[in-house]
Amino acid sequence: MMTVPGHESRPILCIVGARPNFMKMAPILRALGAQAGAPKALLVHTGQHYDAAMSDQLFQDLALPNPDVNLEVGSASHAVQTAEVMRRFEPVVDAHKPSCVVVVGDVNSTIACALVAAKKQVPVVHVEAGLRSFDRAMPEEINRILTDQISDVLYTTEETALGNLTREGIGADRVHFVGNVMIDSLLANRARAIPVAQTLSKGNIDPSLFGKRKGYGVVTLHRPSNVDDVGALRAAIGTLVEVSRRVPLIWPLHPRTRANIERFGLTSALASARIACLPPQGYLEMLGLMDGALLVLTDSGGIQEETTALAVPCLTMRDNTERPITIDEGSNTLVGADRVLILRLVDEILRAGGKGGRVPQNWDGRASERIAAHLVAWLAEHKARDARRRP
Ligand code: UD1
Repeated sequence: MMTVPGHESRPILCIVGARPNFMKMAPILRALGAQAGAPKALLVHTGQHYDAAMSDQLFQDLALPNPDVNLEVGSASHAVQTAEVMRRFEPVVDAHKPSCVVVVGDVNSTIACALVAAKKQVPVVHVEAGLRSFDRAMPEEINRILTDQISDVLYTTEETALGNLTREGIGADRVHFVGNVMIDSLLANRARAIPVAQTLSKGNIDPSLFGKRKGYGVVTLHRPSNVDDVGALRAAIGTLVEVSRRVPLIWPLHPRTRANIERFGLTSALASARIACLPPQGYLEMLGLMDGALLVLTDSGGIQEETTALAVPCLTMRDNTERPITIDEGSNTLVGADRVLILRLVDEILRAGGKGGRVPQNWDGRASERIAAHLVAWLAEHKARDARRRP
C-alpha cells in the first residue's frame, strides 16, 4: 500500500447529524480503525438530532464512540439549521485541517458540512451517493444533488446511481460502487435485535395483542408530505386504522409526527384502533420489530432498504423512491396514499406472504471495508498528486 509521510497527521472528519446517519457511520468508523495506513478518524456530530431517543440511544446501540466534536445546532428551519451547521463547522475544519470530510446520506447536515469542506478545498467523500427520487419537493433530493456535485469521491449503494450521476455530469472515475453500509450495520447487529415482546412490555403494551411473530405490521411516517399537512395525515391515519382491522400495527412515532397528531386533533382517530403507538425506538428495538413483522408501512428511505435485506414486505407510502433496487429486486412496493391499493396488498400479504425479493449485490456486510480500503489508497494518491503540483 502506498503511504505518504505526514499523511496520518491529518484526520478524516466523519459527520453525523440525524438519526439515519448513525447506522451508516458506525461501520465506516470501525472499518477505518481497522484499515492499515488510515488516518485517525474523528467523529463530528452536528446535533441536528439531539433527543435521547433520536440520538443518544442509537450511539449506545451502535457502539459509536462519543463525538470528538458536537456542534449542538438543534432544530430550526432548513435555512437556519443548514447555515448554523456551516457556521459552526468551519472553525472545526480550520482547527483540524482534515485530509477529507466523509458525509453520509442526504440530511441537512450532509450538505452543510460538504459545502464548508468543498469551499476550503478539503476533499468531500459522499457515502450513499447518486440516489434520486426526481422529486425536488423533497428537501433530501436537493441535499443529494448538491452534495454529489461537490464531492470528490462518491460511493454508491446500487448500480442505478452511476447513471443518475453521469446524467448530472459527474465523471465515472469519481464514482465507486461499494454496496450498502446501512446493511453492514444490520447484519452486524441482527443477532442482538431486541425481541418485540420486550419492546412492547417496555412501552406498557400487552405483547399478546400485538407481538406475535409475523402477526403484526410496523409503521413509520415522518416525511413532511405525509405528516405536515392535516389532510394527508388524517387520510394516512384513516388508512392505517383500516389496515389495523386486518392486522395489528406497531407505530413508533417520530417527534414531528407525534406533535402534528396532537396539533391537528387526530389523537382520537387512533384511540380505538389496534395500533400501538410507541416513542421513537432504539436501533436494536427497531431491528427486532422489523425482523418479526409480517409487513412494514413506511415513508422512510432506510427502512425500504432494511426490509429488503430482511425480506419483509414493505409498502412505501410515497409516490416515488430514490432506492429503485428495493422495488426491482427487493421486497418494496410504492403505494403512495392509495387506500384501496394498500388494503389489497395487505390482504395479499396476509393470504400469500407478499413480496420477498432478493438481497441486492454488495449488500453483504462488507461495504465499509471496501470504502476504507479504497479511501486510504485514494488519499495517498491525492496527497502525492498534490505534492507533484506544488513542488
Ligand atoms: C431529518 C432528515 C430526514 C430523515 C429524518 C430521520 C433533513 C432534511 N431531514 O428529518 O431526511 O429521514 O431526519 O428522522 O435533514 N425533533 C425532536 N428531537 C430531535 C430532532 C427533531 O423533537 O432530536 C423534532 C423537532 O420538532 C424538529 C422536528 O423533529 O423541528 C424535525 O427535525 P429535523 O431534524 O428538522 O427533520 P426530521 O423530520 O427529523
